[in-house]
Amino acid sequence: MSRILLTGGLGYIGSHCAVELLENGHEVVIIDNLYNSKVEVLDYIRQITSKEAVFYQGDCCDESFLSDVFSKESIDAVVHLAGYKAVGESVVQPLKYYSNNVNATIALLNAMKNHNVNRLVFSSSATVYENSGSYEKIEKDKLWCTNPYGFTKMFSEQIIRDYCVSNQSFSAINLRYFNPIGAHPSGLIGENPNGIPNNLMPYIQQVAVGILPMLKVYGNDYDTVDGTGMRDYIHVVDLAKAHLSAISYLLENDIKGCDDINIGTGKSTSVLQLVNAFQKANNITIPYVIVERREGDIANIYADTTKAKQILNWQSKYSIEDMCKDAYHWQLNLQKKRKLL
Ligand code: WQD
Repeated sequence: MSRILLTGGLGYIGSHCAVELLENGHEVVIIDNLYNSKVEVLDYIRQITSKEAVFYQGDCCDESFLSDVFSKESIDAVVHLAGYKAVGESVVQPLKYYSNNVNATIALLNAMKNHNVNRLVFSSSATVYENSGSYEKIEKDKLWCTNPYGFTKMFSEQIIRDYCVSNQSFSAINLRYFNPIGAHPSGLIGENPNGIPNNLMPYIQQVAVGILPMLKVYGNDYDTVDGTGMRDYIHVVDLAKAHLSAISYLLENDIKGCDDINIGTGKSTSVLQLVNAFQKANNITIPYVIVERREGDIANIYADTTKAKQILNWQSKYSIEDMCKDAYHWQLNLQKKRKLL
């Protein structure tokens, strides 16, 4: 098998990708600056897989750090996950987001070029799709964003596309994530955001264990099944498996250029449907109150998953119930760990 570099590999998505890659015989090298992750995640990856990932602490924008890692490690392919990801924060601090997220992509591509590493999977997002037309998004749909975070993903995609044109030996896949939620069934790794969660499921998780008193549902006057916002929620383990499929596809085929692929379930779930599913799956009550819409939110979005199936032979397998059970299991474990500290 191959040696895969994961930038941001101790984060929520990255740690799940590390598990899937290790469990499928790949060697894994992780770089992470620990800005939004914790080094003990390395131990959890080891506990889950009984395998060791190599770890370098450092910043993806630091070209000398990257060059040092590429010189020491013989890398066959890269999964680029490192980046800031809070939409609201990106509106307040756009320069922080543009300088970090876009420069990290450029620095990584320079390091790959200098060390002749020519396979890349990029962590992109459905947030790059313009909010117009059908709720179902297909890869050729128009791109446009409503926040700097989204634009950093859109610009990074384009930089990768343009680099592929300039280097005929280089191939890449931009994976456009819809809404990743849940956690590894072991309960050892999951989403542990700093501060009060911006996203729905981590917020529900913290209400469920009593950290937060109740959920605020942002609007119930959308043109949707019950008036609340609808999203294509995908289990983070399904998402990690999509990265494994993308890496295998790039390494096992003589691919040229850059492709964009949606990673979602192909169906959307409303806020209230997710709350009810969480309550039912975990036999718990989640108190909530309907409040006004959140600025910038859209009514509904879900993935056309044809390309993921046709090109990567990948499709999601976990249900909303699985996502809710695994999310709660992880949060309960996190609470137990916190009580022991
Ligand atoms: C989902 C739904 C809210 C919180 C974001 C990023 C996107 C991607 C996924 C990285 C919406 C409602 C939420 C709450 C609520 N991340 N909601 N109360 O906004 O679809 O996408 O995460 O790529 O880039 O923008 O996810 O979880 O914030 O919201 O009612 O406390 O839940 O209105 O309908 P979103 P979300």
